Amino acid sequence: MILDIINKKRLGKELSYREIDYFFNGYLEGEIADYQMSSLLMAICINGMTDEEIFSLTKVFVDSGEVLDFSDIEGIKVDKHSTGGIGDKTTLIIAPIVASLGIPVIKMSGRGLGYTGGTIDKLESIPGFRINLKDREIEKQVKEIGVVITGQTRDLAPMDKVIYALRDVTATVSSIPLIASSIMSKKIASGADKILIDVKYGNGALLKTKEEAKELSKLMVKIGEVYGREVRTMLSDMNTPLGRCVGNSLEVLEAIDVLKGKDDSSNLFNLCVDLASEMVSMGKEIPEEEAKKLVIESIDSGKAFKKFEELVNHQEGDLKGIKVSDNTIKVRSTKSGEITKINALELGKLSLLLGAGKVKKTDKIDYSVGIKLNKLVGNKVEKGDVLMTLYVNKNTPDAKIDDIFTIE
Ligand code: URA
Repeated sequence: MILDIINKKRLGKELSYREIDYFFNGYLEGEIADYQMSSLLMAICINGMTDEEIFSLTKVFVDSGEVLDFSDIEGIKVDKHSTGGIGDKTTLIIAPIVASLGIPVIKMSGRGLGYTGGTIDKLESIPGFRINLKDREIEKQVKEIGVVITGQTRDLAPMDKVIYALRDVTATVSSIPLIASSIMSKKIASGADKILIDVKYGNGALLKTKEEAKELSKLMVKIGEVYGREVRTMLSDMNTPLGRCVGNSLEVLEAIDVLKGKDDSSNLFNLCVDLASEMVSMGKEIPEEEAKKLVIESIDSGKAFKKFEELVNHQEGDLKGIKVSDNTIKVRSTKSGEITKINALELGKLSLLLGAGKVKKTDKIDYSVGIKLNKLVGNKVEKGDVLMTLYVNKNTPDAKIDDIFTIE
């Protein structure tokens, strides 16, 4: 049976729900070996999956754990997910904006993966901030202030975690059917009524092309339909880093500036307004243009930042205690011209070398280090102008400036 299933997929044939259930649960129970699962995953990577197979796999993942139920909380709960990017601090900005407009937001976030930082790591740069709330604390806080950002407390789609770890070391991560089932199983298990997914593409993202991002989007919408959840997606470019900062404390401070309406000069502000408007449109069932006006008004009036402060206070964080390293290195341009590209992936790699993320599982994150871009794509620069500032502690790697900035 095990070899028949692998062979069937190797030949590009469709697996039944029973076969998928048997194989994946067999793996979880230790009856199917790593090498056999790796072999099936590679066959899936190469030959793809039909929609029916993807629905089956998603169901197997969802059924492996709990499905949270927040029906006690009034209002349409809208969740948001990003497929991950360099400098992506959108959750810190969007969650309070949406909550300030009366839509309950229960956001379960994750840690960094590869070169991309995680929201939970960023929040940990706020001293005292509690990232592991218990279920009853989550419910109480949402009822009181309308917003929670927490780490995943329960075992949601635990099978995905196990399979993901194997995919990570067998070059089987970038399979669109596998990504779709992985993301959607966790979103369905987290109990939101509606889901917005920011699907990123580009050199700093999992998917390299817009076409792949579109394919993934379509699949996730279809999976949502099977579960009766409205799923909307937004495609966004991750060839260029998001915003000006990469690094945990720096990114929280940047998020605060955006929430206060102080920084609308980078691509971050526009993406946050677009994502928040989409969520408000879903939560209030109003047209997007109307939602956008509400979002801008929430930022301009200070309501959005006030909600962020409320969130941090409720989760016992101390905003005044955020630390950024005092040791800085200014990286200057070696030529004059216009910046036509800033390579997200190279910037992500540099931030890891500085210590802003983990290279090995056992590494400790240094929250106070990172990179601030002094110039953005489209800016004109003269030789000697500061392109970026590195906030460093013990590691001061050489910045490969020509790999990061294209100046023409
Ligand atoms: N994020 C996920 O949660 N799963 C994937 O497979 C890829 C990105």
